[in-house]
Amino acid sequence: MKDTIAVIGTGYVGLTSGVCFAKLGFCVVCHDIDSKKIAMLIKGKTPFYEPGLQEALTRYLQQKQLTFTTHIERALKDSRFIFICVGTPPRKGGGVDLRAYNAALVCVKNALKKSIAHGDIFIINKSTVPVGTASRVQDFFRNSGLLRTVHIVSNPEFLREGRAVTDFMEPDRIVIGVGNTAQKKNVQPFVSLYQSLRAPKLVVGWETAEMIKYASNAFLATKISFINEIANVCERVGADVEEVARGMGYDPRIGAGFLRAGIGYGGSCFPKDVRALHHMARSSAYSFKLLKAVIEVNNDQQKHAVEKIIRALHGAIRGKTIAILGLAFKPQTDDVRESASLAIIKALLKKGARIRAYDPQAQDNARAALSGLRGVTLCADAYEATRGAHALFLATEWKEFQDLDWEKIKVLMKGNAVIDGRNALNAKLLERNGFTYVGFGVH
Ligand code: UDX
Repeated sequence: MKDTIAVIGTGYVGLTSGVCFAKLGFCVVCHDIDSKKIAMLIKGKTPFYEPGLQEALTRYLQQKQLTFTTHIERALKDSRFIFICVGTPPRKGGGVDLRAYNAALVCVKNALKKSIAHGDIFIINKSTVPVGTASRVQDFFRNSGLLRTVHIVSNPEFLREGRAVTDFMEPDRIVIGVGNTAQKKNVQPFVSLYQSLRAPKLVVGWETAEMIKYASNAFLATKISFINEIANVCERVGADVEEVARGMGYDPRIGAGFLRAGIGYGGSCFPKDVRALHHMARSSAYSFKLLKAVIEVNNDQQKHAVEKIIRALHGAIRGKTIAILGLAFKPQTDDVRESASLAIIKALLKKGARIRAYDPQAQDNARAALSGLRGVTLCADAYEATRGAHALFLATEWKEFQDLDWEKIKVLMKGNAVIDGRNALNAKLLERNGFTYVGFGVH
């Protein structure tokens, strides 16, 4: 019989990890303080869209390998491994809001104090937390009178939304942070949780593990801002960034990934983690100049998008209708957190434009995020969004937008300007259909 795992927090990371540990054959108890969410999960319904998750949830619930509860003691009762997966949102000024995380730790400690179980127990940070947190957690559990020996492990996640299940089951690497060399031996039961996954397993110090997470996201964000800067220069000197990126990507030292120019990165991780690392460096009296520029470039790309739309409308945007295709921060997700699309919509509204928008998955989340703003209509499909529009802006490169019937759209739209924020549309096809096409760094 395999061990039981407790997962604290059923957001993107927690729920995906819980379901995937069930896939690996473990019994998993997922806990959340949100009783509505837990009720929904008990009924077998995922609270967000993630490919493959719904099917797996249904299956492992039926097999009783996966259970959900709001009772922390019930979640911890038979669990030897406790994964902390609660949200660590950004704070104003770039820091990390650890309120939910700290509250989860207090709950876990109090529940463990009441437990009469013996033996080692592992408390694992999957939430992205500032460097130094695991060491602080160790202090928090020291001398707390528990009957069990507590091992603190840092085990950051690298799950991409839209591919989270695949990323969990086929990881590039598994990072395991431990306190010191002596603990490297003790961590073996934890390492064996991942035994069936073929991936390099790095056992490193806590701080190093925590930094690997931040450095990885910051590096990827740097690649994006770098290619966006190249795109901006390409526009001025007549080069094509798509071909430049292709030409660069063949060099294995550079790699072809994350070189897509456009309106920049968004989502729940990159913006937050890049700012947090910059903030962390500053708090240690170090000025991380490169990251400051990465953040600035990313913000500027959204401004460039608005400027391109205004230019396409010959400077007159007030009262004009803009069709926005895509609201999620990227395709294959319904997540709109820090979505460049929403930031651009807000900027356009401020300038007096009217918006007709559509997203295949993110309509509900976008409706909530845009509530209270006048001038936005969320439409039933992409064609409806383009009806009467003077310009069309592609914000998220969903596959279905590449297969649109442009002849039909030409009839529906009032104007003929298409601004492609992701360089994802077929410029030649659009121009053949009478549109003027504007991309980012492409000619
Ligand atoms: C990211 C990391 O990839 C993942 O490892 C980490 O655990 C969480 O953060 P995610 O937020 O799901 O995952 O999105 P990702 O696919 O990495 O894309 C982030 C943003 O960058 C998106 O807004 C995307 O549109 C943008 N992007 C990505 C680009 O603008 N250009 C690119 O070339 C790649």
